Formats: sequence, structure tokens, C-alpha cells
Amino acid sequence: MRKLTLLTLVVVFGLLAGCVAPVAAPVAEEAATEAAPAEAAAPSVCGADEEVTITYVGDPAGKHPVAEAATIERFKALCPNITVNRIEGDANGQNLLASYLTAFEAQSADLDVIRVDVIWPGLLADHLLDMKQFVSQEQIDSYLPALIVNDTVDGRLVALPLRIGFGMLYYRTDLLEKYGFDAPPATWDELAMMAQTIQDGERAAGNSEFWGFVWQGNAYEGLTTNALEWQVSNGGGMIVSPEGEIQVNNPETAAAFERAAGWVGTISPPGVVSYQEEDARAVWHAGNAAFMRNWPYAYSSSRDSEAIGGNFAVAPVPAGDAGVGAAALGGWHIGVSRYSKHPEAAAAFAAYMTSAENQKHYSIDTSSPPAVAALYEDPDIKAAIPFADPAIVAITTPRPSTVTAGKYNEVSTLYFTAVHSILTGEEDAATALELLELDLQKLLGQ
Ligand code: GLC
Repeated sequence: MRKLTLLTLVVVFGLLAGCVAPVAAPVAEEAATEAAPAEAAAPSVCGADEEVTITYVGDPAGKHPVAEAATIERFKALCPNITVNRIEGDANGQNLLASYLTAFEAQSADLDVIRVDVIWPGLLADHLLDMKQFVSQEQIDSYLPALIVNDTVDGRLVALPLRIGFGMLYYRTDLLEKYGFDAPPATWDELAMMAQTIQDGERAAGNSEFWGFVWQGNAYEGLTTNALEWQVSNGGGMIVSPEGEIQVNNPETAAAFERAAGWVGTISPPGVVSYQEEDARAVWHAGNAAFMRNWPYAYSSSRDSEAIGGNFAVAPVPAGDAGVGAAALGGWHIGVSRYSKHPEAAAAFAAYMTSAENQKHYSIDTSSPPAVAALYEDPDIKAAIPFADPAIVAITTPRPSTVTAGKYNEVSTLYFTAVHSILTGEEDAATALELLELDLQKLLGQ
């Protein structure tokens, strides 16, 4: 049995402490001086008072347009001198990361504020400003402490946490009832059995488009999170443990990946091996899936889906041989480019976007659990995101981005490439994992 993660503890303690999160208040004048103490300058919520335009790399088209537009509007009311030009980032995290690195390596001032995946602080630290220069200690203390630990690289706070993600299982309550199931599946085997029964029934009733289970099987970062859940829930260890031990090559992990390969073309569409989050969400929203593995962001849009008609609920990701399910920890944070020509204004926007005041709206609009601890007590948040309680957060599994730091992206790429070759049948699990282990040893110098 795995122990409760650090994050669980901080959620629990954060709730108990009921600490109050302040509204953002960037406090330093001099952005480029990394060592400037936070108390050194007068508070200046809107950076310097001059009129500036900053560029924020926002969500891709169709994802959270309301939440981001509303954030920018509220910020404009607070800081009329700052215009935020929102551009759409790539939906594929690795492409987005590559676009940042291209801009940063050229020391381009084109991007001021960027979205930082929870796994990227170690990869992007050199290109981001230390947010401790701009925000009060009170604001820093308002976040779940594990997220601040995650975002601190060599003592520098390179991003401010905005929202938490974790893998969860969406299921159709009406269909479970129709086929005589009184609870969501607790194990992967139960899920496969229920998915097959419902799929057979719905197809026989005339819906040839219907599938049992949709998830993210493309060769990309999202597959790393799905596969990590299969591995951990089957007792296969982690990808790389916090101590640096490579744990991919074992029979439990091989069995977990073989089981997932067995879903492709049976309870999941053959094309699931090219699905990202939005592909799974589209099938689910059309009413054509009994189960979906996705992140919290899909919750509010599922509520709005006419085809689903409110007939869905969420549950923890099922368990394998470990006897307990695992949910990969995701989420997005906000960082400021060190090449920005307007660091104070950029930091003012980042601080406002991640403030308790804005996170409350943003979390409700995106149905994503907030990073500010006190908001878990908020009745409006509880109503909008009823699953955002420590019981689910209790089983989050972080990816090995802290221990592998600058090499995380390569670690993940090796991992999802190996898993993908198993899903597509190109390679058997035992061989793929043996090769993966060798590749990881080489990459990590072991
Ligand atoms: C979600 C998660 C993020 C993860 C990504 C993978 O956006 O929040 O952490 O890396 O999905 O596709």
C-alpha cells in the first residue's frame, strides 16, 4: 500500500489551517535583480504605471476561453495600464514546451507570461524570473505547500501555481443502471467487463459508434500519465523513484501495459492510440462512451453536454493488482519570462491570475481544483467541483520531474514511446520494458 502523498497531507493541513489567501500584490520595482528582497520596494499592484502590452500564452482554442478571457477582463479593471494579449498555446504539451524553448533560447521578448505544466519547473527554471521578487510571502503561503516545493528550483520560485489536475474516471450513471451495475468499477478488470457489456448492449440497440472506454493513448505526455496510473495501480513501482531508482522493468508493469493493450480495438477504439485529452472528451461528450479517463477540466463541459444530459459521475481511477488506484498529478502554473521587456507588468498579471480572488472564478469556470488551500473550504468551489476533496487527492502520483529535472522530457519521451509500442503491438511488453530500462539507465547515467 502506498503512503499518503505529501500533497494529501498539505491538502488536509491546508484545510485544517483554513489559511486565508491574499489578493496578489507584486511588491518589487526591480524585476531583473534576482536577489532583490521582497520588502525592498513599495507595493505596486500594476507594475510600473506606464501603458504596456504583454503577451500571455494561454490555453489552446476551445479550452477554457471563458476562464481566461474573464481573468484578463478582471485584471484590466484592476490594472487599466496593462493590456494582456492572449495567444493560444499548442494543445500538445511537448509542442508547447518546444515553442517556449525556441523563443527562450533566442532570448526573445515575445512571450511575457507563460503556462507552466507542473512537470516543467526544472526544465524552464533558467528562463523564468524568481516570483518571490514580486509577490508577498502571504500569497506564497496561501498555496498548497507541495506545489511551492514543486515550483522552487535552486531556491528560486519559478512559477506560481494555478490549478491542480489528477486522473479520474468519468462514467455514465444512466448506462450503469441500465445494465444492472450499481457502482463504478473498483478495478481495471471490472471496468473492462462493464465497458464490454455496455458497449455490446448499446451497439445491439443501434449505436454503432459506441465505445466502452476512452483515454489518452497517443505517443505524448498524456500517455505518460495514463501509463503511470496503470503501472502504479498494478504494483509496478514508479517510472523513476524520488531516490532516482528506475522501476519500469518488472512483471507487474508489463502486465499492466499488456492489459491496456488488450483494450485497444475491443472496449476502446483502435484510434485511441492517437487520442489526446480532447479526442477522448469529444467521444464522451457525444454520448458515445461509457467510461472516460480524463482530468478535472472535463467535468464542467460534461455537465453542459446535451448528449450526456447530466447522467454522469466521477470516481477514482480503478485499481490493478496493487489493490488501490493511482491518479497522476497534473496541473498548470504561471511563470514570467526573464526576457520580458515588462517584467513588473508581466508579474502583476501572473500574480493576479494565481491569486485567491481570481482562482475562485477560474476554478469554477474550468472545474479544476485550485492551488490556493483555503479555497477548498469555499462553498461555491465545493458546489462546482464536488470531487475536489482530499479523498481523491490522496492518491495522486507525481511524475519524476523533480528527480530527473532537466532530463524529465527525455525520460517521459522514452517512457511513452515504449508504452505506445506495446499498445500498438509493435513490441511485446517484456522486451519494450527491458529496452526502456537500458535507455533510461543510459540517459540518467546509471
Ligand atoms: C493535463 C495535466 C498536465 C499533463 C497533461 C498531459 O494538462 O494538467 O499536467 O502534463 O495533461 O497531456
